[in-house]
Amino acid sequence: MLIRTTLIIGFLGSTSVVFGSNPNVRKQGSTCTVVARGAGQDDGPSINAAFQECSKNSKVVLNDYYVVNTLLKTTGLSNVQIELSGTVQYTPNIAYWSPNSYPLIYQNATTAWLLSGTNLHLYGGGTIDGNGQIWYDALANGQGNTGTAGGSSTTFARPIPLTVFESKNVLVEDLNQISSPFWNNFVYGSSNVEYRNINIRSLSYSKSPAANSDGWDIYRSDHVTVRDSVVNNDDDCVSFKPNSTFITVQNMNCNGSHGISVGSLGQYAGETDIVANVYVQNITMSNAQNGARIKVFGGNPSASSTAGGGTGYVKNITYANFRVNNVDNPITLNQCYSTPAATCAQFPSKVTISDVHFIDITGTSSGAEKSLVVSLECSEPCMDITAKGTHIEPPSKYGAPTYICQNITSTSQVRLCLVSH
Ligand SMILES: *[C@@H]1O[C@H](CO)[C@@H](O)[C@H](O)[C@H]1NC(C)=O
Ligand SMILES: *[C@@H]1O[C@H](CO)[C@@H](O)[C@H](O)[C@H]1NC(C)=O
Ligand SMILES: *[C@@H]1O[C@H](CO)[C@@H](O)[C@H](O)[C@H]1NC(C)=O
Ligand SMILES: *[C@@H]1O[C@H](CO)[C@@H](O)[C@H](O)[C@H]1NC(C)=O
Ligand SMILES: *[C@@H]1O[C@H](CO)[C@@H](O)[C@H](O)[C@H]1NC(C)=O
Ligand SMILES: *[C@@H]1O[C@H](CO)[C@@H](O)[C@H](O)[C@H]1NC(C)=O
Repeated sequence: MLIRTTLIIGFLGSTSVVFGSNPNVRKQGSTCTVVARGAGQDDGPSINAAFQECSKNSKVVLNDYYVVNTLLKTTGLSNVQIELSGTVQYTPNIAYWSPNSYPLIYQNATTAWLLSGTNLHLYGGGTIDGNGQIWYDALANGQGNTGTAGGSSTTFARPIPLTVFESKNVLVEDLNQISSPFWNNFVYGSSNVEYRNINIRSLSYSKSPAANSDGWDIYRSDHVTVRDSVVNNDDDCVSFKPNSTFITVQNMNCNGSHGISVGSLGQYAGETDIVANVYVQNITMSNAQNGARIKVFGGNPSASSTAGGGTGYVKNITYANFRVNNVDNPITLNQCYSTPAATCAQFPSKVTISDVHFIDITGTSSGAEKSLVVSLECSEPCMDITAKGTHIEPPSKYGAPTYICQNITSTSQVRLCLVSH
């Protein structure tokens, strides 16, 4: 009896897809256009249906104003053009999204749109609106349990508006992203992904910060490019999480952020985290907490530690032509991140850092660290760290800029550590 019921449901489900019975999906040739239902009704099911009908060698057109109160799960796609010239606005519905956004495990992140496939092109000048203000306020008012590491919890999820998941050959360009409840973009388990001309604005209009509103987080992915984009937010502009390799970030204008960051890495004992072959070039970073940043946890004696003790490496990282305006920590590398100094001295980090180059980092610090403009602090020797063309001025009342360099083996090459000005 049970089996029979399941079969009937399965049959009905596939029937509706094959015959395109969703009245809000217009199919013409290999193009599926989604028509908004209007009056605040949920367009999520129509969007999902369009991607099922046009999942291969086809085009999906989103040219209307959509209200989305259903998880967008658009997976198994191949050779799909996605024209987003309208607006996808998620509902500010914490009660729906917390249990229903798609769980991505890493830092308890969840997403409202799981996009997955091969040869995808998402473009069109439209907008993804995360409706984040209600999350910023709820979080600040202590309504939500955030989980650890700034992630969501299973009872209070802050969905990522767009996640490129286990995909290959994806180009995302010409989009606006506003008001994300959490990270704006997550690249997860993907290869050969490029973002161009993305305009991000995640700012709070109340006293609550737009918390964790990273522009991009990259995880277990390689050959990812982020370029020609503008980010106004309250957390990392771009962040390279564990196992990000061959990453390029270019021609970016970041404002109000926490910098372009490697890490944090090495947080979990027993885990290996790698960030390698990263090239960050032509960046303007204004009014930010950090500029070029690398953060790695120290060691930990416990084999089950979730606060340091992981292994791995950071290698071949270049930050070049990087302008800072009013930035608290223009260059900062910390291998004892979130680790008490005594623990770190006894158990240096097992994530090694080498082959890191800072080229032509110029501009002004905010004075938040007084005269200090560069801080390179390793708990075990970091090898082949170089800097040239560094000219960063603190506000004049703090005098000449100062630098900290600890356990940097190639000190002779770190001219900024030897020459005070
Ligand atoms: C995920 O959330 C659960 C429940 O709140 C929490 O126990 C766990 O530590 C969180 N994990 C991470 C990695 O944030
Ligand atoms: C550097 O990036 C800015 C955008 O932030 C862009 O306008 C400029 O053309 C870029 N410079 C070069 C040489 O590509
Ligand atoms: C840049 O960030 C600062 C500080 O967060 C903010 O006051 C300013 O309005 C932002 N500029 C733009 C163009 O959004
Ligand atoms: C990163 O890659 C290494 C080497 O392939 C692997 O051992 C490790 O488990 C990966 N770590 C994560 C967090 O995926
Ligand atoms: C170092 O990283 C850059 C940028 O991704 C890459 O082009 C280069 O091949 C890397 N070098 C090595 C030796 O892997
Ligand atoms: C430098 O590294 C050594 C291990 O090689 C460690 O014992 C020492 O505490 C480190 N010094 C600082 C200032 O972190």
